[in-house]
Formats: sequence, C-alpha cells, structure tokens
Amino acid sequence: MFDAPITPFIAALPKAELHMHLEGSLEPETIMELARRNGVRIPYASATELRAAYDFTDLQSFLDLFYLGLTVLRTGEDFYAMTKAYLDRAAQDNVRHAEVFISPQAHLRRGIAIAPLMDNILQAFDDVVAERGMTGGVIVGIQRQFDEEDALSMLNTLQPWRDRIIGLGTGGPEKGNRPAKFRRAYAKARHDLGWRTTIHAGEEGGADFVCEALDILQVDRIDHGVQAEADPDLMRRLADTGMPLTVCPCSNIMLRVFPTMQAHNIRRLHEAGLCITVNSDDPSYFGGYMNENFAAIQQALGFSDAELWQLARNGFTSAFMAEADRDRHLAELDKITP
Ligand code: ADE
Ligand code: ZN
Repeated sequence: MFDAPITPFIAALPKAELHMHLEGSLEPETIMELARRNGVRIPYASATELRAAYDFTDLQSFLDLFYLGLTVLRTGEDFYAMTKAYLDRAAQDNVRHAEVFISPQAHLRRGIAIAPLMDNILQAFDDVVAERGMTGGVIVGIQRQFDEEDALSMLNTLQPWRDRIIGLGTGGPEKGNRPAKFRRAYAKARHDLGWRTTIHAGEEGGADFVCEALDILQVDRIDHGVQAEADPDLMRRLADTGMPLTVCPCSNIMLRVFPTMQAHNIRRLHEAGLCITVNSDDPSYFGGYMNENFAAIQQALGFSDAELWQLARNGFTSAFMAEADRDRHLAELDKITP
C-alpha cells in the first residue's frame, strides 16, 4: 500500500517516534501464533485472512480489530516479546527515541494482572537502552469510550509504576467522547503523578476537540490534530505556542481521514508554522513503520530532505525526555546534513 522509495537520507535520519500504540504493532502472524499458543479464539483462519480484513472505513472499524487483536496477549512474556519486537523493528528505521502508548484498561477488563504486564514492557525498554542506547518509555492511554471513573481506577492501579511512566494519553473513538470527559484524570496525572500529557484530538473529532484539550486538559501535545486546520484562530494559537502535533500520515489514509496522501494536509500544517512530527500510530495495521511514513509524505507531497530533517528534529524537541538525552540525540541529528 505505502511503497514509496525509502531513500538513503530517510533511512539514515535519526528519528523520535511519539505516537505509536504498542498493541498496534502486533503483526497478523504474531496474533495468530499467540492465539494458538494461548488458546484464544480469533475468527480468522490465517494471518493472510486477518491481514485481508485490514480494509478500514473509519476509526471504529479499525478499533474493532485492534481491540480483538490484543486479546491474544496473556502472559508477561507476551508483553515482553511484543515490546522488544517493536523496539528492534523501530531501531531498523533508525528510531532513537520511542514513546509508546499502552491500553491498560483493555487488558485489566480481561483479567490480565497489571504487574507482569508493566514489569515486562518496562524490562524490554531497559534492555534496548542497554543494548542500543535507545531512549523512550510508556504513555498510558485512557480508552475514551469508558467513563472517567474507569480511567481514574486505572491510574490508581498504576500507582506503583508512577515513576517509570512518562505520560498520560487518550485514544479510542473520538466522536461522542469529548476531551473534557477526562478533566479530573488529566489534573491527577499532572498534579499528583507528575506526568506529561497528550490526547488524541482532531483525528475524527473537530477543531473544537483540540481547543478543549488545550483549554480544559492543558495538554503538552496533541495526537493527530489534523482537523485544527478548519479553525484559523486555533492554527495561529498552535503556531504561536509551538504546540506539537503528532501526525500519522499512513494511519490517516487507512482510516480515511484524507482520501489520498496527496490530499493530506501535513504540508500545509508545516508551512503554517506548526510543530509537526511524523509517527506510525499502529504500524502493523496501517502498512508502514516510521520510514514508510517519511517516504510516503516525501513522494506524495514533495517534502525536501531539509524539510524531513526539520520534522525529525521536531520529534526530538517535542519528546517527553531528559534534557541530557535530548542534547545527545540532537547532536546525532546535526551530523546528518540534508
Ligand atoms: N487506538 C489505537 N490507534 C488509535 C487511533 N489512531 N485513534 C484512536 N485510538 C487509537
Ligand atoms: Zn493513535
């Protein structure tokens, strides 16, 4: 689907991935293998059949498969293997820093114990830090289709890992689930837990969702945010404040937010002075990891290497990371001249 050439420049560009759902990195082959091993029923006969179902009409049609696919995860080893596989795959794309969303509510509701889940995911991060010097961590994602009490209960459950979690985010069906629904959860994350915050807003919801996320939740980043373009005042505000948007080009085409990559507004957002980053969202479902996303926008929208370099730089400057790590990554980026 996304087969634009990955140029040597794109391959060599150091990258930060800020918007990726760990459960969205499970490849169909892994889902089928885990289903067999863990005795979980998946209504598809083969990985080929499952992959053929990745023909989405909107966000909800994808979420139905995403929430089905993650039910094959049962043991701590499953969570370790998924995390390590993603980080190793990201490293092939020269991702040097990865912040990944997890969806704890989806697992807690299935009776999965939280300790093996968190400890194994974090162990995989520790291992890639040691092996590769990669940095990153976990952002816990609220599922917005559930009520705020459920989100607050998840935050309590995660209290023992408070210092190992870098942020709070929110995903799930946007329509009908406005950002303000999670006002108390975001206040708790910021004030009590000391976490950074972000939220999916303006993917299928309107520019007003982005405004609400800024005004009421006071987030540090916006995930997607592409619908902001409909509101000129908001566009000016985003540019003036340098508020990062974590844009996911291949995802937006697969979920029909834009009909084609040529019709994507990422170039206009960038040219309007917004802080735009490039990300893969759910790479196994959307046909592209980081390099494919960079290559797709270069081919369809004519981004120069210098412009791609700037988007990669935005990833590092927008990351929730220690300043010493940021300086180290930016120094590596400076060695690559467009
Ligand atoms: N969960 C996983 N991917 C998502 C997306 N693109 N939007 C909302 N929720 C998600
Ligand atoms: Zn997402």
